[in-house]
Amino acid sequence: MSTDTGQAPITTSGIEHRHLRVGWLALLVFLAGGIGLEALHGFKVDAYLGVDNETRKHLWTLAHAHGTLLGLVNLAFAWTLTRAPGFAPGARSVASRCLIGATVLMPAGFFLGGVIFYGGDPGVGILLLPIGAVLLLVAAALTLRGTRAVG
Ligand code: HEM
Repeated sequence: MSTDTGQAPITTSGIEHRHLRVGWLALLVFLAGGIGLEALHGFKVDAYLGVDNETRKHLWTLAHAHGTLLGLVNLAFAWTLTRAPGFAPGARSVASRCLIGATVLMPAGFFLGGVIFYGGDPGVGILLLPIGAVLLLVAAALTLRGTRAVG
């Protein structure tokens, strides 16, 4: 019996596949982080909700939100690659690495900045954030350029 559905096979390039994996992994990790934050609320954990710990609460909420949204950005990047034939392989590769760097460094910076903090100031872990932000800007600029119409 033939299993041919008559549809063209769906193929996924290495970089697309990498971002599908990274995107869904980031969603898994940071949505679980959201459930972790819910639990901290549910159990009224002072280390998170106490008035002296507002900096931590703010930073960990930002880690959750940015990590989740960067997961979606990775999925958007994977989709964009299927729609941008003019995106040169070298630029794709650099954009991909920058985006993955940002996906790790930005939420990590917020999270680590909230582990140890100094009054209203985040801990040194926050230094990862501007590095991740620059990588994200580079990825966005390269991707914008890669989506220019061909010919
Ligand atoms: C696509 C999915 C999601 C996105 C884009 C997202 C984004 C955000 C954003 C932007 C905030 C900050 C809101 C504010 O402070 O005004 C936030 C807070 C929060 N999210 Fe999510 N979220 C998502 C899914 C989830 C899930 C699945 C959970 C857990 C079941 C969750 C739990 C929380 C909690 C508990 C806070 C508040 C933390 C606090 O203020 O102490 N989120 N989220």
